[in-house]
This record gives sequence, C-alpha cells and structure tokens, in this order.
Amino acid sequence: MSTVEIKNLHKSFGRLEVLKGIDFTVDSGQVVCVIGPSGSGKSTLLRCVNLLEQPTSGQVFVDGVELTDPDVDIDAARRRIGMVFQQFNLFSHLTVLRNVTIAQERVLKRSRAEAERIARENLAKVGVAEKADAYPAQLSGGQQQRVAIARALAMNPSLMLFDEPTSALDPELVGDVLTVMRRLAEDGMTMLVVTHEMSFAREVADRVVFMDGGVIVEDGPPKQVIGAPQHERTRTFLRRVLDPTHAD
Ligand SMILES: Nc1ncnc2c1ncn2[C@@H]1O[C@H](COP(=O)(O)OP(=O)(O)OP(=O)(O)O)[C@@H](O)[C@H]1O
Ligand SMILES: [Mg+2]
Repeated sequence: MSTVEIKNLHKSFGRLEVLKGIDFTVDSGQVVCVIGPSGSGKSTLLRCVNLLEQPTSGQVFVDGVELTDPDVDIDAARRRIGMVFQQFNLFSHLTVLRNVTIAQERVLKRSRAEAERIARENLAKVGVAEKADAYPAQLSGGQQQRVAIARALAMNPSLMLFDEPTSALDPELVGDVLTVMRRLAEDGMTMLVVTHEMSFAREVADRVVFMDGGVIVEDGPPKQVIGAPQHERTRTFLRRVLDPTHAD
C-alpha cells in the first residue's frame, strides 16, 4: 500500500501558482528524495503533505486517509507524520530530554516515565543519549538536528518528512545526520526527503523526484534521474549542484 498518495495537487499563494499539478506516491518503506532548484516548490510540497499548507486543490492521502477531506480529523492524521526542518526548532528553554517527551505526554498522553523511556531509546538511536540533560544551545547543530529526529521518532510516525535537514549544518556535521537518516531508511522507515545531498539521494533513495517550476519533471530510480537524466532541465540542475562553480 502507498503511505503517501498525492493527486493533482495545486497550491497558489495569491496569484503565484507554486504547485501546478503534482502526482506521486511513496510506498510503505520507500525513501523518496525530492531535488530541484530554489523556489521550485519542494518545501511547499512537503508542507502540503502534512497540511501545514492548505492545498488549493487536489488530494493528499497518508496511510489511506484523505488529509484534504474537510471532515478529516487532521490532528489524528498529523500524528502519524514526523517532520524535520532545516532549522531544528527545538525549545531552547527545555532540556533535550524534555524536548523529546513533551509532545509524547501532551499529544499521545503517555506517562512521564514512559515518555522518558521512549525518549532515551530514541536519543540513543541517534547517538546523543549522553546529552539528555543538556540544553539545545549546548549542542552542536548536528546534535540538535539528531535530537529533532529523535523527537519526531518518539511519536511513532509511519512517515517522516525531511526538509533539507543538513543544509544549515557545518560541513563536518552533515555526515552524522545523514548516517542517522540512512539507518532509519535501512530500518524500513518511509521517508520523503528534500535534499541537496546527491550522494545520499543516489545511495539511499528508492526514487528521486526532480521538481522545477512547480511540476515534477522526472521521477525514477536514482540511477536514472541522477545517473542518466532524460530532460535538459534536470541535466542543467545536476551540473550546478554537482559542480557549484559551474555557472549557467
Ligand atoms: N507562505 C508563502 N507565501 C507566499 N509565497 C510563498 C510562501 N511560501 C512559499 N512561497 C513561494 O513559493 C515558491 C516556492 O517556495 P518553496 O519554499 O516551496 O521552494 P523550495 O523549492 O523549497 O526552495 P528552496 O530550495 O530555496 O528551499 C517561492 O516562489 C516562494 O517565494
Ligand atoms: Mg525549501
């Protein structure tokens, strides 16, 4: 079954049409990477998947539930979706442990003890167990991002959305976050990842979706989309990201 199914999705901001009819699916256990130039609508697409943005038209299904149905219990539906942003969005006045327990207690109504047990499990999984009592400002960007991933995982999502999770990080911290994401993928998590990390996309993604100007230009296995792109727009984009000094 498809975990995510998007049908003819359109999104406009005022007169600016950002998504111009997007169709795609993410099957259970798949990793799909979305690539494309700045402004092509990648973040907007991701935000429409958990209805942080209300689509202008079209349908979004997650686990077979239509999120775009006006009668849907959107809070219940969103609970199944974890999201990790470029900026980690941790609460700076709360410890790492509390950052990971708070939604478990408030949203899932877990007891403090159970939430802490699950938080520590997930902090260990992402390699920051020893930082449980620290505050976010005492952590590196890479560690903060891994805490943000642990926080999302603690909610037992069936789908994880990542929006350029490594692009705010110093280069030497990128690897640790990608390693965590790679391990998640190996464990069978369904993931939709906007990224500029082409090596990650090539090695981890089941499919790569190239977006440009609010449409999907290419969608296929990484070997095809990155390795042998069919469209000139894809080739131009890839030349630019693979060799940033290349100007066109
Ligand atoms: N809330 C908003 N109100 C108005 N315009 C918006 C809003 N959010 C995004 N846009 C516009 O929609 C277009 C697509 O933005 P989006 O953030 O989805 O692009 P992106 O592909 O994620 O780019 P980047 O790679 O720079 O993150 C841009 O022109 C942007 O200015
Ligand atoms: Mg974006």
